[in-house]
Amino acid sequence: MSRKFYITTPIYYVNAHPHIGHAYTTIACDTIARRQRLLGAETFFLTGTDEHGQKIERAAQAAGKTPQQYADEISSEFRRLWKRMGISNDDFIRTTEDRHKKRVQELFRQIRDRGYIYKGTYTGQYCVSDELYVDGAQPGDPCPTCGRITETVHEENYFFKLSAFQEKLLELYANPDFIRPETRRNEVISFVRSGLRDLSISRSTFSWGIPVPDDPNHVIYVWLDALANYITAIGYASSHAAARQAFKKFWPADVHMIGKEIVRFHCVYWPAFLMAAGLPMPKTIVAHGWLLFEESKMSKSRGNIVHPETILDVLGADALRYFLLREVVFGQDGSFSFDALVQRYNSDLANGLGNLASRTLTMINRYFKGEVPYPSHAASRTAADDAIAETARKTIREFDSLFEQFQFSRALEAAWALVAAVDKYIVENEPWALGDKDDEESRSRLATVLYTAAEALRIVTALAHPVIPDATAKIWAQMGLGDIQKLALSELAWGQLPLSTKLGEIHPVFPRADKSAIERMQKMEEGQRSSPTHEPSAATSATSLPPAAAAPALPSAADQKISIDDFAKIELRVGLVKVAERVPKSDKLLRLEVDIGTDVRQVLAGIAEAYAPETLVGRKVVIVSNLAPRKLRGFESNGMIVAASLDDGKPVLAGFLEEVPVGARLK
Ligand code: MSP
Repeated sequence: MSRKFYITTPIYYVNAHPHIGHAYTTIACDTIARRQRLLGAETFFLTGTDEHGQKIERAAQAAGKTPQQYADEISSEFRRLWKRMGISNDDFIRTTEDRHKKRVQELFRQIRDRGYIYKGTYTGQYCVSDELYVDGAQPGDPCPTCGRITETVHEENYFFKLSAFQEKLLELYANPDFIRPETRRNEVISFVRSGLRDLSISRSTFSWGIPVPDDPNHVIYVWLDALANYITAIGYASSHAAARQAFKKFWPADVHMIGKEIVRFHCVYWPAFLMAAGLPMPKTIVAHGWLLFEESKMSKSRGNIVHPETILDVLGADALRYFLLREVVFGQDGSFSFDALVQRYNSDLANGLGNLASRTLTMINRYFKGEVPYPSHAASRTAADDAIAETARKTIREFDSLFEQFQFSRALEAAWALVAAVDKYIVENEPWALGDKDDEESRSRLATVLYTAAEALRIVTALAHPVIPDATAKIWAQMGLGDIQKLALSELAWGQLPLSTKLGEIHPVFPRADKSAIERMQKMEEGQRSSPTHEPSAATSATSLPPAAAAPALPSAADQKISIDDFAKIELRVGLVKVAERVPKSDKLLRLEVDIGTDVRQVLAGIAEAYAPETLVGRKVVIVSNLAPRKLRGFESNGMIVAASLDDGKPVLAGFLEEVPVGARLK
């Protein structure tokens, strides 16, 4: 019987559009799930959306929609995006689905029947953003997690006897694999040691949630509702025998992957709920760090999000997947920047794996009519050939063990060290020079060199497949190896490349990105951020790269007509630059203080490459003065300076030929 493997992402709140912070968790899980499938495990990979609670209810209200309409829209955005990113989830659970609601009520009943729920009164502070009770806080105090002011709650509630589980939880944490990494485990242990208070698990002051069984004036606390998704989706308490069978097979989960800010919910509340219900514990809870952008956690509320679509449009899904797993040291926070993304893309994917594939396969085509050549007999083998084989064997071992430890960046580093070794091997052995000669010896040496390069390429391709599924499937097919999904990864070893394999058609998989790719992505993001709803904009990119496979064709801005009323929403004013200076550590940004008649605004403008700051002071500019503020490099920008953008991306500031007063409105 095959081994089972069950992995989950957290389910995503539907009050915010998906961004690459969400994508990060999902990609990490997807990579693990894909790898487990190749290793032969019967894998179940679950993700979904978290749709109840006060936060969603309020967001829907603000958008003038019912909570269900609002949740439907954003949940489908997540699903569309995950598809484009090649996410291979086996199910997508929504907490507003009937199957979930019924089973959560069943879980509540089960815990209540076992004596762990009682009715009491809660008076205290609550953070709606984190859906978190803040023990010990006073009215007006900020939430210790997000800094927002907590709200006072005074309600008759159902309570969960969390305090009864302190010792049992500490026993659970004695297993070092239960919470990873170690730092998070230590934090949880000290939190639990300091004492646990019973937890309020119902709310009665709003209704957007799952009713408490037999007491519909209360809805179940959103975290109990949400955490339960991990069991409701696979058939816990289902009325169908087949679903209950699936639950038996897959529960307990092998891995719950989460971000570090939701450790307490997963490592304290969730195991306690499960213990109270008499259910088995998940095997491992793995917490990763945050993706930072412009120096703080990427999040909707900070207004510093990057939409995955931007990267998918310009560089494709594999680029995003590879970058996030290679660049961020798993468990720690990591910074995102477009510069670093394009640099990594070019160095590791275009010039690295992509170039290795195209040069090796092109030479096999040219010199051996597209058939994998036989390596020569022992006499003409060199130590360099054996060294590559040895490096490849070592890489397989290292990659496996690092991946098992969730050390994705180090695993990829090891695989790319093999790419670098083969590149060097090719340069030193000059197959092109051997190919120019006709003698037997050169021919046999050429065969060995190209076989060695191709075999190493096969191994890197197989190892990297879970991370960059699209490009590796193409390389695999170009090597004539068929469907990469059929690969038995556990048997991967040096020397399995079948001789005389006929290569498929060769196409480059990672075209080089030039500098304009960075600007295009930045512009697309700027367009999205300056739109008041922060909705992904309809702007498209004229790209030198082929669009990613599933990229939908988007209309260009010029194709879209807006009404005069739409235009009237944009306030353009004449401003006078009072102060201009460079933003530290940025080549592009200037910080300006601009007098617009009514007030002096701080505005950040991406014009540092075209204008020296001192030439701007005293100059009149046009400013979009009613843009929502946003933070760039730690500075708040309150508006946008209008400039023409030339073909080479150079900005030219808009100005006037006649004298105009400061503050005059442009219409
Ligand atoms: N709905 C809860 C989870 C319930 S699970 C039973 C929630 N949702 S969330 O949408 O706010 O976050 C979902 C996941 O995305 C979390 O793991 C969170 O850490 C991750 N990320 C959101 N922003 C992130 C970054 N900027 N960086 C890395 N991960 C981030 O919490």
